[in-house]
Amino acid sequence: MKALVCKAFGTPDSLAMTELPVPEPAAGEVLIEGHFASLNFPDILMVAGTYQGCPPLPFVPGMETAGYVRAVGSGVSEFALGDRVMARTGGFGSFAEYACAPVSDVYHAPQALPLEMAAGFSVSYGSVYHALVDRARLQPGENLLVLGAGGGTGVNAVEVGKLLGARVIAAAGSADKLAAAREFGADEVFNYREEPHFRDTVKNLTGGHGADVVFDPVGGDAFDESLRCIAWAGRILVFGFASGRIPQVPANHVLVKGCDIVGVFTGAFTRKTPGKSRRNMEQLLAWVEAGRLKPPVPVIYGLDQVPLAMRHLQERTLVGKAAIRLR
Ligand SMILES: NC(=O)c1ccc[n+]([C@@H]2O[C@H](COP(=O)([O-])OP(=O)(O)OC[C@H]3O[C@@H](n4cnc5c(N)ncnc54)[C@H](OP(=O)(O)O)[C@@H]3O)[C@@H](O)[C@H]2O)c1
Repeated sequence: MKALVCKAFGTPDSLAMTELPVPEPAAGEVLIEGHFASLNFPDILMVAGTYQGCPPLPFVPGMETAGYVRAVGSGVSEFALGDRVMARTGGFGSFAEYACAPVSDVYHAPQALPLEMAAGFSVSYGSVYHALVDRARLQPGENLLVLGAGGGTGVNAVEVGKLLGARVIAAAGSADKLAAAREFGADEVFNYREEPHFRDTVKNLTGGHGADVVFDPVGGDAFDESLRCIAWAGRILVFGFASGRIPQVPANHVLVKGCDIVGVFTGAFTRKTPGKSRRNMEQLLAWVEAGRLKPPVPVIYGLDQVPLAMRHLQERTLVGKAAIRLR
């Protein structure tokens, strides 16, 4: 099979197209003939060797795939040959024509979801749901500030936040990204590249109240500013550090604001409480079936264009999600 291999940690350009044997599913796994994979920000960190829990070299990056079950390992009764599925592949392995996944992370893909959209569903929506529902306990009517709101997880956070009844304020760094956030239901938008000191903007948009919940996949200066506009008893979700700077928290600000700084680590949540994680996904898939969630149409790249797609993420020019055509 064709696969994209990371042989040494480095930049996206160091990835190499390679022929590899088709993997065999172990007990409790299924083998998926992948049609589309999804690109996630952590794929870049994994190729750079800076992600927590990098696999040993050489490895095939990519954490999600969608396609058809072609073989099942012993003990698997939940899926049959030919089933149309989407899956998390255990952190890596999906940038290839075939990938194995543990049954706990495989889902039947709703017919309403084309495979290019199904491929990018689990990690992003699953993480956003866990962040907003389990960690922030977002309530209807609360003000939700979404940073990086035109990015992969950001557009999903806008959409899920609206479904949960929040008033969503979207912050992003370009007109295209703000338009995407609007398309997914944002009530208010502003460009935080033009307004890096956005405390007053958020205060004005909330009648002086501030943001009850901040979804922060960006970190750095955006996190610092969030701490200035968080409402009393608000929650800041420490979700990611796309800016490259891990912020430090002055504890006196947390005291004065009476706010919570809340960590989100969906990978560990899924490993530690697989039943809860699966129930979250079932809720999300029920919303898709009911037409209440409409995942973004991804930008599609070929398998040999993964380095280009990664560069677009790094350069902040990609709006929404990227899908990788595998065959
Ligand atoms: N905690 C969890 O469980 C969990 C789960 C999934 C992902 N994550 C993390 O969440 C973060 C975002 O993931 P994503 O899939 O949404 O990524 P993404 O699609 O690349 O979006 C991230 C956004 O961050 C903004 N950004 C600001 N400075 C940036 C910079 N220097 N380089 C690149 N982007 C920058 C960009 O928006 P603007 O241009 O509008 O600023 C970009 O759209 C990553 O750090 C990822 O590891 C965490």
